[in-house]
Amino acid sequence: MDKIRIIGGNRLNGKVSISGSKNSSLPIMISSILTDDVLQIHNVPKLTDIKTLTFILEELGASINQIRVKKSDLSAPISINVANISSTTAGYENVSKMRASFLVIGALLAREGYARVSMPGGCAIGTRPVDIHLKGLKTLGADVKVEKGFVIVKAKKGLTGNYIQLEKPSVGATQNLIMASTLAKGETKISNASIEPEVLDLIDCLKKMGANIEINKKNILIDGQETLHGASHSVMSDRIEAATFAIAACITRGNLILKGCDPRNLELPLYLLRNIGFQIKDTDDGINVDGYLTNEIKPIDLITEPYPGFPTDLQAQFMALLTQAHGVSVINEKIFENRFMHVQELVRMGADIYLDGDKAIITGKANLVGAQVMATDLRASVSLVIAALCAEGETLINRVYHLDRGFENLEKKLSNCGAEIERIR
Ligand code: UD1
Repeated sequence: MDKIRIIGGNRLNGKVSISGSKNSSLPIMISSILTDDVLQIHNVPKLTDIKTLTFILEELGASINQIRVKKSDLSAPISINVANISSTTAGYENVSKMRASFLVIGALLAREGYARVSMPGGCAIGTRPVDIHLKGLKTLGADVKVEKGFVIVKAKKGLTGNYIQLEKPSVGATQNLIMASTLAKGETKISNASIEPEVLDLIDCLKKMGANIEINKKNILIDGQETLHGASHSVMSDRIEAATFAIAACITRGNLILKGCDPRNLELPLYLLRNIGFQIKDTDDGINVDGYLTNEIKPIDLITEPYPGFPTDLQAQFMALLTQAHGVSVINEKIFENRFMHVQELVRMGADIYLDGDKAIITGKANLVGAQVMATDLRASVSLVIAALCAEGETLINRVYHLDRGFENLEKKLSNCGAEIERIR
């Protein structure tokens, strides 16, 4: 199994191009099921999660191609055409690898009146049920049952628009129910909906496909259409990747220009980085993060919350950075009940972190020293990379397949900016 070897201590300097958002690309690719026309998608990152979804869509009957003018053009858009659905089953092998693949259920149900989708898997960060998705589909008129590890949904006469009040603003449930409602009869209102930027990006793409969707605060109104048509859409840049590089620049006291980063999607994380001592400026096409002039990092308390609150997907990376603050910081994880697996690995590197229920108490400044550590989930893995960049000596990160699920060319992007990092196969 691949490992990543990092020798810490180098400042990061240079320019990083931020990739297209993984969490945006996945539902947008899935929205291709809603039409028999071609959906052209630009800025899709090359990641194993995208590959996994490609296999799932192909099993359902999609034809997926990269539209290259030149052979060398690796960033060319992809086109997805689901002219005919050849199967309404998404099986265990691929769905269990990635939770987002469960979103095919809403789109398949809307188009075919039937779907059979394996219960999802993905990162081991708590139990992550799908009850909110299923309750919503029932409210739209679907008959839902769970049998032998599969969720089976039926609506032979089609879905009917309705009022759906979400218990929690689940990102996935919101996306699933929006997609299902675009082809339902009549109007649907989803209240207490997620309004994460990736949800808005999906809505943007669906509107280009002919969907009629309006957003009013945390309410999403969808007027169902008979059919949707093909479109061309460019996915937003990955705000989690951008903030991860910003944190890497901070912890190494470096200076990075993050090309393509949209600071409007990262207001709170960037505000916090400024607050604890770093300089961040907007540039013409991104941001500049400067840690050269920072002497001491100030401790902070933060709580993970739905957007526009602090994103849970940046919790682990901020924790790595706060091991270097002078004083005590508290991180309260409110989205997932078991998202502290990185703590014991950071402690192996010398961090002083104490867990109290959903709170992590981090006392700094710790002298981090390289060690053998294990990646446990996508964002946890990258927090170990961040810690390793400022640790003394060599860190060996095991199980890096988690990183490949969500960070495009991570080693290359970091080594281009001066990090001593290599993959050992
Ligand atoms: C998405 C993101 C993930 C991010 C998360 C929260 C993708 C592919 N993944 O995951 O990176 O960490 O949002 O911002 O976009 N819940 C239920 N019942 C449900 C659904 C969710 O109880 O039916 C709970 C979850 O267990 C969790 C919370 O709601 O505690 C939020 O989960 P949700 O927003 O659904 O996360 P995902 O869409 O899976």
